[in-house]
Amino acid sequence: MSNMSLLTVKNLRKRFNLEAGFFARFGKFVNAVNDISFSIGKNEAYGLVGESGCGKTTTARLLVRMYEADSGQILFYDGDNAGTADTGIVDVSMLKKDALQNYREKVRYVFQDPARSLNPRMSVYEVLVSGCRKPLRKKGVKEKELREKAAAILEEVGLGAVDLEKRPSEFSGGQRQRISIARALLMEPELLICDEVVSALDVSIQGQILNLLLDISKKRNISFLFIAHDLKVACYFCDRIGVMYKGELMEEAPAAYLYKKAMHPYTKLLFSSAAGNKETACLTETGHIEKRKNTLGCSFAPRCPHALDRCRNEHPQLTEKNSGHLVRCLNLI
Ligand SMILES: Nc1ncnc2c1ncn2[C@@H]1O[C@H](COP(=O)(O)OP(=O)(O)OP(=O)(O)O)[C@@H](O)[C@H]1O
Ligand SMILES: [Mg+2]
Repeated sequence: MSNMSLLTVKNLRKRFNLEAGFFARFGKFVNAVNDISFSIGKNEAYGLVGESGCGKTTTARLLVRMYEADSGQILFYDGDNAGTADTGIVDVSMLKKDALQNYREKVRYVFQDPARSLNPRMSVYEVLVSGCRKPLRKKGVKEKELREKAAAILEEVGLGAVDLEKRPSEFSGGQRQRISIARALLMEPELLICDEVVSALDVSIQGQILNLLLDISKKRNISFLFIAHDLKVACYFCDRIGVMYKGELMEEAPAAYLYKKAMHPYTKLLFSSAAGNKETACLTETGHIEKRKNTLGCSFAPRCPHALDRCRNEHPQLTEKNSGHLVRCLNLI
């Protein structure tokens, strides 16, 4: 991990209308990502954690422009542009065609469900190379080299060259996730976005995939955006973690610090429900759909065991409590 930032997100927002079509009522929407700012350092694993629907996937999709942001900035440090007149920092929302393609080679997305993200009609080899044949050809890579590269990457993720001609259906869930990871690594990305990559797997297999990702992070100079709803899993893998609730960051801290000294009542609740505490787990029902008017107060106040009147009327800011430890809670700042 270094101090240099590879990706910086500033005040990112994305709102979805809940109803579409001619008869849509415009009062109903969800602030999926609500003024989020964070950065991911070079070689750093940054975790985004929170319950279902809090906006983790939307944040990740905004980063690769699968969705366009309503407002905010995504800045990427592109080493290939450094040393020229500019600083090497590119505004991702401004990228067009080739430049966007180039960025998407550096920032790769691994999806949650390998069964759905791997085309069952393709061989593993085709799955691995189909998205990157064109850019690699442009760089002068021949088909033979591409096959060698694909075989080497399969070996890196714990499979073998003999698996290249098989179909994804011949593999187990964990092995398919290894194939997804291999596909993402083929273009030698600088940032790997792992969106719930272990949550569809059995616990024992989860550990193997996490250890594989740890090996990859040690071997390659690569940063991670690691998305999970399980805070403990994220603490195991990540250097730093942002805890999301209803589209906002509620707390951000180094993982080891968060594990020992979580401050926000929501983060404590997440740890406590991960430990199977029924009393607190019952607080975890969600209700993230907002009416436009209802923007006052802390978004967690309706579920917070410590909420005061003030918490229902005043919106807390994310504030640095200790060095590198930020928290959004009126009771703590
Ligand atoms: N394409 C879309 N159209 C409308 N609403 C959407 C869309 N994508 C996400 N949402 C809504 O935005 C909110 C955030 O969703 P998102 O998928 O980002 O959450 P998440 O944290 O990834 O959840 P999960 O843990 O279930 O994957 C949810 O309320 C969701 O219903
Ligand atoms: Mg998601």
